[in-house]
Order: sequence, then C-alpha cells, then structure tokens
Amino acid sequence: MASKGPRPLVAGNWKMNGSLAMLREPRLLAAMLKDVRLKADVMVCPPAILIRRVKSVLKGSKIKVGGQDCHWNAAGAHTGDISADMLKEAGCTAVIVGHSERRANHGETDEIVARKARAVQKAGLKAIICIGETLEERKAGKTLDVVARQIKGSLPHESAASDTVIAYEPVWAIGTGLTPTTAEVAEVHALIRNELGGLMSNDGAGVRILYGGSVKPSNAGDLMSLPNVNGALVGGASLKAADFLGIIKVFA
Ligand code: 13P
Repeated sequence: MASKGPRPLVAGNWKMNGSLAMLREPRLLAAMLKDVRLKADVMVCPPAILIRRVKSVLKGSKIKVGGQDCHWNAAGAHTGDISADMLKEAGCTAVIVGHSERRANHGETDEIVARKARAVQKAGLKAIICIGETLEERKAGKTLDVVARQIKGSLPHESAASDTVIAYEPVWAIGTGLTPTTAEVAEVHALIRNELGGLMSNDGAGVRILYGGSVKPSNAGDLMSLPNVNGALVGGASLKAADFLGIIKVFA
C-alpha cells in the first residue's frame, strides 16, 4: 500500500488474553514476517506479565512490544499498578492509555488519561491514546463533539509527533464485528487530524492516527487506505498470527 504521511503502525492489543502456550503466536508471526518488507511498524501489547517473554520470543525481529496501561506516577504506593518506567525496562516502546475498557471499567476520565499519557511520554515511550464514542453518542449525532472533547482532554500539552499516537476506537465497534462505514471513519479521522493541528500546530501532521474496532483481514485493506488512517489497533484478530498477518500484509 502506498502510504502518505506518517509511517503506519499496526498494533495488536491482546487485552487480558495470553499464556505461555500462546507465545507460539508471536514466534510464528516473527517467522512469517522475517523476509517481508513492510511499510509499517508492527507491535504487540500483551498482558504485563508476559511482556518479557514475548520480548524474548521476538528477539531479532522488527516487531515491537508495548504495554496496555500504566499508572501516572513513576513509583509509589499503588498496589497492583505498574509504571511506564517499569514497562520501559521490560522492553516496551509504547503504552496504550485510555482504552475504552479502562475508561468504562475503571472510571478513567480524560484527565486521568492525560496524566497517564504524560507519564508514558516522560519515560521516553510513545503514548497510544485511545478515544471513541459509544453507540448512544453516535446515534445522538454527538460523535464529532465527543471525539473532539476526548482528544482535547486526553492529549498532554507537551505532546510531540514522535511520542504520540491516537487510536480512534468507536466503543460499539470493539469486539462486535461491526465497523463504521469508510466515510464515517474518514470523517472522524479528518476531525482528529484537524484537532491535532490546533493543539500541536505543525507536529499534528506527523501523529499517527490508528483505527481500531473489529479490524480483520477482510476489511483492513479498505480501512487502511483511507486518508488520515495511519494504521490499526487490533484486538481479537491480533491473537492468532495468521489473522494478524492478514492485516499487517496490507502494508507489504
Ligand atoms: P477488536 O479488534 O477485538 O474489536 O478490539 C479492538 C480494540 O479494542 C483494540 O484495542
């Protein structure tokens, strides 16, 4: 695929899935990608406890590893949490923040997401900041307002194109098999690009804007060719090397 703008990124979010047995999938993926020249970066974001194992399985490959969430503090009395520095030490180059499942299940607000994103950037990693409307909001015609509000509230002021990725994930498209039309995706991505221009001036053009929500090999070609779509954040289809490869190959 001919790519204009920033180099695309295809990132797999394993969510709370994975096991030692599942390490065969990234191992397989690395082998399948060995001789493929890609016009995109590839990343997998396993559960924190598997990061070092995945990293070791991917040794020698170009596939990067990311975290799924972190605390906004670098260290301290936060039982059960993990910091961006710890993720960095484990070999991560990026951390997903503000995923809709975190927003919905852990009450994360835009302000919390911005604090987490800032912590990720301060650690020298890329923050993959997720935003997206619910079905109710889309039906009420509020999509663009919601997305604009989330991006303004979740993006740290000092963000740069080099340490920021935006993932547009309509909540109703996650894990449902439903996707917005290509026109709807293009409309939201254009709005995000425009907002980034306002918030980051020239740097806004260099930020990768990923689409996420039921991306699979059969729809990736259409979605990834849209203007201002610079890759994908993939859930379910990133768990099997063959499916993930089918998406990644759009950029071969
Ligand atoms: P699915 O690809 O399973 O719809 O999940 C998308 C997602 O939430 C990635 O972060």
